[in-house]
Amino acid sequence: MMARLNKYLFHWIISGMLATYSLAVSASDVEVLHWWTSAGEAKAASVLREGIEQRGHQWQDFAVGGRAGISAMNTLRIRAISGNPPLAAQIKGPEITEWARLGFLRNLNEIAEAEHWEDKIPAPLRDVMQYQGNYVAAPINIHRVNWLWVNLRAFEAANADIPTDFDSFFAAADKLQQAGYIPLALGGEPWQVATLFDSLALSVLGPQDYQRAFLDFDRKALLSDDVVKAFTLLAKMRQYVDDSGQGRNWSDTTRLLIDNQAGMQVMGDWAKGEFFAANQQEGNAFTCVAFPGTKKAFSYNVDSFVFFKPNNQSERQSQTDMASYLLTPQFQRDFNRYKGSLPIRFDVPLPQGDRCAQQSRDAFIYAQENGTLSPSMSHGLSTTRYVQSAVFDVINEFFYNPEQTPREATEALYRAILSAQA
Ligand code: BGC
Repeated sequence: MMARLNKYLFHWIISGMLATYSLAVSASDVEVLHWWTSAGEAKAASVLREGIEQRGHQWQDFAVGGRAGISAMNTLRIRAISGNPPLAAQIKGPEITEWARLGFLRNLNEIAEAEHWEDKIPAPLRDVMQYQGNYVAAPINIHRVNWLWVNLRAFEAANADIPTDFDSFFAAADKLQQAGYIPLALGGEPWQVATLFDSLALSVLGPQDYQRAFLDFDRKALLSDDVVKAFTLLAKMRQYVDDSGQGRNWSDTTRLLIDNQAGMQVMGDWAKGEFFAANQQEGNAFTCVAFPGTKKAFSYNVDSFVFFKPNNQSERQSQTDMASYLLTPQFQRDFNRYKGSLPIRFDVPLPQGDRCAQQSRDAFIYAQENGTLSPSMSHGLSTTRYVQSAVFDVINEFFYNPEQTPREATEALYRAILSAQA
């Protein structure tokens, strides 16, 4: 057990040291670490800030954008290890358990009881927020990862049909290319390529085998022909992305659709927040459709906050006020409207006319009833960042190295997961 903890600490310290962020902190009332820095994300984060200020606290922004939270987590590790963590931090999935196991997190049971979290949080998501039966994190939303975003103006100009399966996806991609559009906008960062692969894997394997592969790390599922097929499809996508994607962040990539240069993007519904922030209308400029072959599946990504053990009563009170605010109907409605996600509370109405949100909620309910809810690998809901980054490396290496075969990538993926778990 101790050896395992040491391994985590060691890994955290090393990966944290590689990051080059300022450690300067000034005294603050509520310092909140997050990575919501795109236009839509920043609007959502301001709902959080306003609520905290209305409760009489001062908000200190600890925003570390980039790489879907990887940079933020590296920075957080340095702060936590040097004994100076922020009061609150955006941490997700099994990573919550790791921080709790190391003794960093405040127990939130009192707040959860007072605020009736049991009745508000969908059952399958409650476990993620708990460690040894105690609440240690507060969930705020449900993002669906397996979306395909469609620029309707490009589709009309190219006379392309909205894809429902892989045949229609590649037919549309060809037409978009002929009409002079970038068919598939993809930022060349490991997590973005992994987000695309995630949807491909969910589609080809189906939710049950996806979970066997990426949650249980079952050997048979990981080495199956379906994983080879997912890599084969990923290879086919190479010809539809532009050459200048290397290092481009996800919101600049969504921008390519907003600016009518690209036809499609595979991304979670935080992309919807970007379209809305650019004043684009769903059904007019853009629309959403489930990634080919995943209409009945739901790859979920739940954002949540943890609270580091406070030093005094006043810090404790600030945390309590923030944690209690997160599940209020007002915060749930306003934050998620900008963020593109579903409220974690299903009694909170969705924004009028947001058909993507409605489809998302219907798909979640269907998946919950049919046992097909799948924690997203690429967004840290199925495993810790340690295993996840090994998976990202393999997928990224394959995408940018046409010499490697899909079978070789499948085997490399299995080996990487094995050694990351060891
Ligand atoms: C987070 C989202 C965020 C996205 C891009 C995801 O992993 O869950 O809240 O908008 O990364 O930054």
